[in-house]
Amino acid sequence: MTWIKGLHHITGAATNGQADHDFYTGVLGLRMVKKTVNHETGDQYHFFYGDQDGNAGTIMTNFIMENVPLPPYQRGRGSLTEVAYSIPPGSLEYWRDRLADAGTEPKEIAERFGDRVLAFADLSGIPSELIESADDPRTPPALSGVTEGKQIRGFHSVSAISRILELSLGFFGAIGLEGFGTEGDRTRLGLKDGNNGWIAGSFIDLVDEPEAPWGRWGLGGIHHAAFHVESKERMEQLWRVLSGSGLILTDLRDRKYFHSMYLTEPGGINIEFSNLAPGWTVDEPADSLGSILSLPSQWEPHRAEIEGKLPPFNFDKGTLDRKNEAKTLGE
Ligand SMILES: [Fe+2]
Repeated sequence: MTWIKGLHHITGAATNGQADHDFYTGVLGLRMVKKTVNHETGDQYHFFYGDQDGNAGTIMTNFIMENVPLPPYQRGRGSLTEVAYSIPPGSLEYWRDRLADAGTEPKEIAERFGDRVLAFADLSGIPSELIESADDPRTPPALSGVTEGKQIRGFHSVSAISRILELSLGFFGAIGLEGFGTEGDRTRLGLKDGNNGWIAGSFIDLVDEPEAPWGRWGLGGIHHAAFHVESKERMEQLWRVLSGSGLILTDLRDRKYFHSMYLTEPGGINIEFSNLAPGWTVDEPADSLGSILSLPSQWEPHRAEIEGKLPPFNFDKGTLDRKNEAKTLGE
């Protein structure tokens, strides 16, 4: 039994809350699953986007840094370099036009491990990709506003440049990821499905660039990739295993919707492990996820003060309104 089930969420740093919300919901067609704040500091928004139910493996989250200074992301060794979403085969041209209409500059369509890939940067500069995948059974979000049959189905993979590839291969192998293949300087790891296939949304691509500069997280970059662990009990077991590894590991933290623990793996890549219980409906109903500003319960008494420090955001322009605008954009 492996420790992880696939990717859980990926977290980046965005420049502007309204633009971020409008892009991820209105252009990428994800649902805003949770609108909350940084649970460590409370001074910045933390937006969660995903599929209709907020399933693990679909959740892109961004810290909104417009009121908190942060230097720009520097791509390099020990950094997460791209987040990739899975889309159905034959839909990349649709997405290239849609992304260009939305003000991004998609690159030329390329090929990787036999699948077509389109790279683009989101409105904050976060390096992102769409990958056509024939082997992804996941159901796309219902509230997407994206033309039927073209929707994002969740993550495909995340890429990172390891500082020392052999150490990263050892670490990710120890938590259950297996070698999918190597293409040039890129080695893909993933989870097998027990049926001679691979689990969609379980891939991490480790890129070996020994000459690259030291990477640094920052604005327009990805801070960490979280992997999904079955349960809190399983996380506690994993914590005991990892705590003896010599790696710097945080305690198990209550994130209201799930539990988290963080570490930097031996190749310098920031990793989190998360379960998904009690889940997104602990503070708002399933049909209106992302509608309220959700705070950690211990901060509820300070809601007015916290809200007063956050930048203005038009909560009324929610996903449903944006969905209708997105339809016009995509068709
Ligand atoms: Fe996280």
